[in-house]
Amino acid sequence: MRKPIIAGNWKMYKTIGEAVTLVEAMRASLDEIEGVESVVCPPFVALSAVAAALQSSRVKVGAQNMHWAEQGAYTGEIAPAMLVGLCQYVILGHSERRAYFGETDEGVNRKAKAALAHGLSPIICVGETEAQYDAGETDSVVRHQVTAALGGLTANQVCSLVIAYEPVWAIGTGKAATGEAANRVIRDIVRATIAELYDEETAQAVRIQYGGSTNPANIAEFMQQPDIDGALVGGASLQAEGFVQMVRITARLRS
Ligand code: PGA
Repeated sequence: MRKPIIAGNWKMYKTIGEAVTLVEAMRASLDEIEGVESVVCPPFVALSAVAAALQSSRVKVGAQNMHWAEQGAYTGEIAPAMLVGLCQYVILGHSERRAYFGETDEGVNRKAKAALAHGLSPIICVGETEAQYDAGETDSVVRHQVTAALGGLTANQVCSLVIAYEPVWAIGTGKAATGEAANRVIRDIVRATIAELYDEETAQAVRIQYGGSTNPANIAEFMQQPDIDGALVGGASLQAEGFVQMVRITARLRS
């Protein structure tokens, strides 16, 4: 049984004070919901305050990125060990990182290995751009991204990570994929690739989210799909009530 996971990616929104206000507005309600893992991913500088606000809460914390190196002369970067104790998850290879900050499949793979070595669970993002979608390249692009991201990882490690399938054209556009189309890519490409690289048991164990313009009104469409194990939520995760509603709907449908 894969436990559904709804993660809020706050991106570059919320000061430390605003982040604490937001998480305090959702914590009590989220703590009442069983059967779904909820995660908030604030900006780096707010991690510590948000983690403190969530002590003794079942809500988990995630970072939005990290470097793969242990430490070093990498101005502006954050090492894996700096996140240990602050968060349990770390988003890796988000399409905005790939598009605006030159992240590559190889870098995502190095980061995944580093995160796992430090006991952090990666949420690895994959997904085709609009041009790739239009050219009918979705399957090959996603297959390649999944294969590259998981290179050198053991089956056990793969079981402990999360993959987010996020079509780039659906992110922040209000133009979500359909539940059926997202489920097809997740089942026939993401899970099938893991089955080829490892085995069917591993493919069935790994949790795979959908991301891209999810909100309280459409989350049910995704959570009704058998291969979709949750969502990576951007814009809608900045509203306490809406985010709680998304977790609640997921719990109702899946637990
Ligand atoms: P969105 O973002 O929900 O605002 O489309 C999703 C994401 O970037 O993970």
